[in-house]
Amino acid sequence: MNYFVTGGAGFIGSNFIFHMLREHPEDRIVCLDKLTYAGNLSTLSPVMNDPHFRFCKVDICDREAVNRLFDEEHPDAVVNFAAESHVDRSIEDPGIFLQTNIIGTSVLMDACRSHGNVRYHQVSTDEVYGDLPLDRPDLFFTETTPIHTSSPYSSSKASADLLVLAYYRTYGLPVTISRCSNNYGPYHFPEKLIPLMIINCLHDKPLPVYGEGLNVRDWLYVEDHCRAIDLILQKGRIGEVYNVGGHNEMRNIDIVKLIIHELGKSEDLITYVADRKGHDLRYAIDPEKIHAELGWLPETKFADGIKKTIRWYLDNEDWWKPIISGEYQHYYEKMYGNRE
Ligand code: NAD
Ligand code: TYD
Repeated sequence: MNYFVTGGAGFIGSNFIFHMLREHPEDRIVCLDKLTYAGNLSTLSPVMNDPHFRFCKVDICDREAVNRLFDEEHPDAVVNFAAESHVDRSIEDPGIFLQTNIIGTSVLMDACRSHGNVRYHQVSTDEVYGDLPLDRPDLFFTETTPIHTSSPYSSSKASADLLVLAYYRTYGLPVTISRCSNNYGPYHFPEKLIPLMIINCLHDKPLPVYGEGLNVRDWLYVEDHCRAIDLILQKGRIGEVYNVGGHNEMRNIDIVKLIIHELGKSEDLITYVADRKGHDLRYAIDPEKIHAELGWLPETKFADGIKKTIRWYLDNEDWWKPIISGEYQHYYEKMYGNRE
């Protein structure tokens, strides 16, 4: 198989490329990535010389470039990770989210259609379902939960999902969609909760907790997500949506305290800051469908995964130090400088 993996220089896409090259050594991966602020070529350096791997700097919104690469490579399947992925940035400036997340998805699917109905997988998110109340622990997102988004990010991802399903129904494009909960693990960009807290802790910097820190996220180790996508590609039913999550709900404040304790720091570092606008209260996935149909189960328990992740950040300063020394400083000042 020749796979196109878009957004492969980002967090989950890079982990997926490592997973695929390891688990399917006979296959070939072509990574298409625009290398935005979130894309890091250094992440892919371990596979750059692998004969089964090729990197191409391509914007998925660039129809001509995408078509050229399809003509050249004749992919058997496309796995679309490429996206603007940070809710806080989408609140500041939604435009690029609509461009990459919606238009980019349609460009890729058009290329799939015009090159012999290439198999297409859309990497989506549980955020398309909006949020659940904090006082109803009995409620979970299933694949039939109505789409009900809160942020420009989640709205752009939901729009893309609807387009993907429309291309299936209207043109018969062989598609699947996965909607996963929050991921954590190696190569997570340090603007997101877990890596931000680890790196701030290591510098004894304040730990900015939004609101009261009571919002709940459902955390999954990134490798478990990669295995789920792999399974969907091999055995998933065409036209179907699969939720992916490991029943690991945690309050933000509890995650922050856990990181503090693992790193032997003081809870005095915790700083409560102004809440995110439209902040979703709780995400919680019901993964029964992917379990029953494809036999998927998460393998990494949070207690182990978070230790491994912290260890990875301790051992890989060379990866994150250059990131936080550049443009990130301006971002941090803008988002957190006057946040009370
Ligand atoms: P990320 O921000 O770490 O990486 C995104 C990658 O896409 C970067 O390498 C970036 O350079 C690339 N990119 C952005 N715009 C592009 C464009 N126009 N053309 C080509 N490449 C472009 O994101 P992530 O956390 O790895 O998320 C990957 C996907 O998984 C996204 O679609 C996201 O919505 C989805 N998702 C993420 C999570 C999570 O917890 N991180 C959970 C569920 C779903
Ligand atoms: P994030 O990692 O941005 O993922 P998402 O918003 O897609 O779930 O945030 C996870 C949770 O952590 C979310 O409830 C917002 C909160 N949060 C903070 O409290 N402080 C922070 O500095 C960040 C980045 C997030």
